Amino acid sequence: MNSSVAAQIIEAMDAQTAAFRADVIAGLSEADKLLPSRWLYDDCGSDLFEQITKLPEYYPTRTETGILTSNAQSLAAFCGQQAVIIEYGAGASIKSQILLNALRQPRMYVPVDIAGDFLAAAAERLRKRFPALEVLPVAADFTQEFDLPNAVPAEFKRTGFFPGSTIGNLAPEEAISFLSRVHRHVTDRQSADPQPGRTLIGIDLKKSTDVLIPAYDDAAGVTAAFNLNLLRRINRELGGTFKLDQFQHEARWNDAASSIEMHIVSSTDQTVVAAGKAFDFAEGETIHTESSRKYSQEGFAAIAADAGWRVTQTWTDSDDLFAIVGLETL
Ligand code: AVJ
Repeated sequence: MNSSVAAQIIEAMDAQTAAFRADVIAGLSEADKLLPSRWLYDDCGSDLFEQITKLPEYYPTRTETGILTSNAQSLAAFCGQQAVIIEYGAGASIKSQILLNALRQPRMYVPVDIAGDFLAAAAERLRKRFPALEVLPVAADFTQEFDLPNAVPAEFKRTGFFPGSTIGNLAPEEAISFLSRVHRHVTDRQSADPQPGRTLIGIDLKKSTDVLIPAYDDAAGVTAAFNLNLLRRINRELGGTFKLDQFQHEARWNDAASSIEMHIVSSTDQTVVAAGKAFDFAEGETIHTESSRKYSQEGFAAIAADAGWRVTQTWTDSDDLFAIVGLETL
């Protein structure tokens, strides 16, 4: 068997493409067409998302970074001394750097990410910036069950860290199973006097659609390009025939789900081939590509409680746009 690095990368790519193909066939065959939002993030999509975070209309990233910076000492106190920080989806390490910088003698940083190469690069940056800190990257999909390696020391307080309001992309029941998984990861079962486990979660708060809609449909059209890039990806990776000028980006508020939804809207009646299958679109029909849930503080506390957590601290900005919520095990 060939187990060279190149062969492993090709195998992983094939598995990715196979999963993408299966999701495209299944999602475009539904009466209400939909595609999982994870497919938005190919190289081009990740790049466009990076640009979104700098847009004047897109308040979440700079607001959360501001909350972290202004409250670094109090967040560090929440984590305690010699903390073990476990970051889920450790993409942008700017936020973890703000937290790690404020900690007293952090014991270990455990970035968890599905993308191995991204993860290795992030770990390397952190090691350079904090030479005394032990960094233990874990390649895992945090939306699925996984165990932390035994090398994570049991005798130090663990804090889960999930910034970015990525929890908003999970359906409520998925958010509860994610928070239960974090609960399991940070709970100390070994000592006679177990410390409560902790976690810090970034959530985007419910607010006027006058603010929300432009944040997901910016004047410069970057979010539109980010959304429509999914069709480009289907064309490139799955032999798709989407005509990009026949589809439009739409951001809409779903009040019942308390979510901003991104859709791709067909401008005409048309048939498109993708992954070897034909899919009919009626004029105005959409593909739902992302839901971004906006929480009330009470609504989030209820979901956290279902996963065995209680809210013990909340840090927000002066306009209550965004919150970092501190949870401790019940
Ligand atoms: C990175 C998933 C938190 O939902 O706000 C930004 C993604 N989509 N603009 C979000 C996104 C459109 C973003 N998350």
